[in-house]
Amino acid sequence: MLSSNNDAKTCRIVVLISGNGSNLQAIMDQCGRGGIPAEVTAVISNVESAFGLTRARQAGISAHCLDHRDFANRLEYDDALAALVEAFHPDLVVLAGFMRILGPQFVDRFAGRLINIHPSLLPRYPGLDTHERAIADGAKEHGASVHFVTQDLDAGPVIIQGRVAVMKDDSAEILAARVHDVEHRIYPQAVGWFASGRLALKDGVALLDGQPLTD
Ligand code: GAR
Repeated sequence: MLSSNNDAKTCRIVVLISGNGSNLQAIMDQCGRGGIPAEVTAVISNVESAFGLTRARQAGISAHCLDHRDFANRLEYDDALAALVEAFHPDLVVLAGFMRILGPQFVDRFAGRLINIHPSLLPRYPGLDTHERAIADGAKEHGASVHFVTQDLDAGPVIIQGRVAVMKDDSAEILAARVHDVEHRIYPQAVGWFASGRLALKDGVALLDGQPLTD
């Protein structure tokens, strides 16, 4: 359920990353242009060398590394991560290439305000190596999905998808670049919907303007 905060004021976003952060950049750019009534208040990575942290610092955004290798197990890491995220009082938590599975306690704590982008047309190709698998299958179409995060890996309700054609001679790298282009369009769009109070998760269904989103 959306808090009334989203209707009245700037939506506070915490973004979790593990790498390059090009989706983070797309979201920061849209916020900076005033295209989304939101601000990225913090960026957290589990990898110190993630370029996304540099992007955040360059934009004057609070940037932190919480390395999972410093914790004894997933639960301890997730607890520390949740505490760090909560410290920024987010209305929305955005996973943007965060390459760790989050346990049920974390997911439940942020239910309805936790979204992810996955590089496939879900429910096709959950998990890793999605571009390689699409090419190996001879798929004609591929893409990316933004979804609410639930306890089922890469299986939460889909909010928006972007499609690209798979060309005959595509390598995984070329296809990934094409998918990235659509990711940079659909992720700010989904964040914008949430920030303006139009998007919610209710009874396991993603709603836009109160209507179920179906692909
Ligand atoms: C994106 O392609 C995103 O879909 C993928 O990681 C990439 C991050 O790129 N996420 C996953 O695979 C999650 N399972 P970025 O760091 O340049 O935004």
